[in-house]
Amino acid sequence: MSNSVLKAIAERYSCRGYTDQALTEDQLKAIADAAVMAPSAMNLQPWKIIVINDRDILNDLEADAIECLSKLEDKSIYERIMSRGGKVFYNAPTMFLIPIKEGGELDCGIVSQNIALAAHSLGLGSVICGMARLPFDGQRGQEFKERVAFPEGYKFGMSVLVGYPATSGTPHEPDRSKISFIG
Ligand SMILES: Cc1cc2nc3c(=O)[nH]c(=O)nc-3n(C[C@H](O)[C@H](O)[C@H](O)COP(=O)(O)O)c2cc1C
Repeated sequence: MSNSVLKAIAERYSCRGYTDQALTEDQLKAIADAAVMAPSAMNLQPWKIIVINDRDILNDLEADAIECLSKLEDKSIYERIMSRGGKVFYNAPTMFLIPIKEGGELDCGIVSQNIALAAHSLGLGSVICGMARLPFDGQRGQEFKERVAFPEGYKFGMSVLVGYPATSGTPHEPDRSKISFIG
């Protein structure tokens, strides 16, 4: 059984390499609309969507994320990232940053998937990127929050990077052993 929604879900994968090509305003708006169409408990919509297309900001956030990783006691993530080119945002031209209110974590996950699927449906790549939490929650958090006009009373929820894929990838294999049918 298949249709365009099931096809997009089955084809999406986390893209970890992007070209420099910027997204068009129409693409950005379509993806942002998909984000805010997500369901939420009691329709509270405990999120904001900040679309960052500024290369300098993205580079500074990425550099700070890597610095945060380098200071962790466990150096394994830092070493793995440095061994594959020192990129945590993979040159993506756009970050959809999702600040949330307390308790909005599950709703934020649904927003993230809406963004990823919308991007895929437009022929774009995406990766949900929790690593972007590091600069916003780190020592320079306030500075970064000011630069992106992060709203008061919200915390980092998640980020989704979007752009034109420069690398190919494949969706993960569905693990059907995790499914059970009763009745
Ligand atoms: C909450 C969340 C946070 C994630 N954070 C990162 C991240 O910081 N960097 C990254 O490269 N991938 C990140 N991913 C992508 C996962 O690694 C990826 O979804 C998983 O390996 C399955 O691969 P697929 O998306 O290609 O199916 C994240 C995914 C989720 C759901």
